[in-house]
Formats: sequence, C-alpha cells, structure tokens
Amino acid sequence: MSISLKVAAVERANDLITAFRLVAADGGRLPGWAPGAHIKLSLPLEGGSAQRAYSLMNTDAAADPAAGVAEYRIAVRREDEGRGGSRYLHATVKAGDVLVAAAPKNEFPLTPTDDIVLVAGGIGITPILSMAAALTRLGKRYNAHYSGRSASQLAFVEEFKALAGNSLSLHADDDATSALNIATLLAAYKPTQHIYVCGPKGLIDALLAAARKAGWTDDHLHFELFTEAAAQSGDQPFTLVLAQSGRELTVSADKTILDVLVDAGLDPMFDCKRGECGVCACGVIEGEVDHRDYCLSDAEKASNKTIQTCISRAKCARLVIDM
Ligand code: FES
Repeated sequence: MSISLKVAAVERANDLITAFRLVAADGGRLPGWAPGAHIKLSLPLEGGSAQRAYSLMNTDAAADPAAGVAEYRIAVRREDEGRGGSRYLHATVKAGDVLVAAAPKNEFPLTPTDDIVLVAGGIGITPILSMAAALTRLGKRYNAHYSGRSASQLAFVEEFKALAGNSLSLHADDDATSALNIATLLAAYKPTQHIYVCGPKGLIDALLAAARKAGWTDDHLHFELFTEAAAQSGDQPFTLVLAQSGRELTVSADKTILDVLVDAGLDPMFDCKRGECGVCACGVIEGEVDHRDYCLSDAEKASNKTIQTCISRAKCARLVIDM
C-alpha cells in the first residue's frame, strides 16, 4: 500500500541532520507503527524512482503510535558520498511538497522487557528514540547509549534526556573522556539483558562480536544497520559466472553482485540490501565467498554453499553462482 505524504515541516537538528514531519496528503490519519519501524520513500533518483528507508521517530512517551498517528517524523543525515537520497531530501524537499511512501514495515521490532540496553550510533538514533519512548511509556527499566563523532553531531539530545533521564549516556569519539568503549559498555551489563543497537556497520560489527565473546547469545542481540553494502578497502573486481546461462559479468570493486545482476537486466529477488533479511540468497557452485551478511549462520558461511548477493563478494577472481 502506498501513502501520499505532505511535508508539514522541515526542521534542522544540526549541521548534518534534518527532520521531516509528514502528514497524510488527504488530511486523514496515518497507519500505526511500532518502535523499530521504517517507511520507504519513493524519491526521484538514479534516472527514475528509487526507494529509501527511514526509521519512524517518536519521542513522546505519552503516545502509542500503534493505533494510528496524525504525522510521521523521520530524520535524515546528509551523506555527501551516499547514493543521493539524503542529498535530495536535504536540498530539494520543502514544506508543502508531497512524497509517496510505502506503509510502515518493522524489521527491528522491540519486545519490551526490563533492563534493555539501547545503543545508537549516529543517525541510528531514530529507531532507538522510539524504543526509549515506548519503554518509558510502559514503565520498563532501560539504559541507553548514544554515540557520535562529536558532541555537536548528536541530535535530539534534549528529547532523549527527557525520556531516559540518568539512564542515558552520551559518547563523543573526539572526547577521550566520553568516547564509546564497547568493552566498558558490555562490562556494565549481563548477557541476560537484551541489547538493541542501530548505527553504522563498524559499530554493529564491533558490538556484536564483543557481546558474543562476552557470553551474549544471538537471541539477546537485536540490530539494524543504517547503511547498505559499502565497498571496503582492498575490495577487488571479480568475474561472476551465471551457471544456468553461462553468462559472465564483471563485479567491480564499488558494485555489489546484486547491482551487477540488476544492471544486466536480470530480476533477482532482494529486500533489505544490508545482508539481514536473507531474501537475496543464491547458491554457490564454484569460488570462495567473502561473507559479509548477518543472516547466514557460521556453519552456513563455512559450507560456502550460499551467498547473499546484496552484500557479500568473492575472495577469488571467479565466482560461479546457481543462477
Ligand atoms: S537483500 Fe536482504 S540479505 Fe540481501
């Protein structure tokens, strides 16, 4: 279901982050949502229309958005090197414009219990704020950590403080006294506590690895990446062979297998494009996979039989997949 949303207000949160308040273009109520949900906006990008996902924000502990809402609030960090969605929203969209969105979807749901640990990095603050509001409304104990490159890059701090009070710790990378130290953070909690983390891949990878080492099991670790697959230094081009047709394609260092399949006119299945949902899985016939996803188990990765084409690459010059 698509929804027409009118931009009711554009609010600058800091130099990099701008919030948008969106109401139903027909003046009605908007579908309800739960913390962790996002909407996908259709934006005029890439020579056509492209979808970009933005988490829904609520900082009002008195409100439960599940029953339907008068407005959606999203916040967007300008990514000058990104794929254009944030630049478009920052530079072009103004109050009164109409945007088309898909109805809210939740791939990062919160199960409210006591003693949850919330961790936000950068613009990953948006779903975490909604979780803090829900936990506050439900009277659940929780701790929250919000980390950014500098104190000036942290947005919505006063709203977060109003929700979490002394349970909130702020961290700035450029301040040695407050910079987020994952080992110190985890040492303050127990593996029986659920951790919800949203932010850049580096933060999520480091936190998940350290938490697993410290005894957390995967069912107590909940996360959502805020970026799609990004090239890593040292990435090399490789040849992708589609076994069913024998077709050979080149996957350059700055493209994913999925990008290359789509560019070649194929119609592969995908959803999250972050290595989380599992939808883009494809069988591997030959070649070693550089697994970068979060959905295959360690055993599945070790078997080298499946690749998530949206994010994983080849460790070799030629990868043959069952397509
Ligand atoms: S599209 Fe979700 S894991 Fe690849």
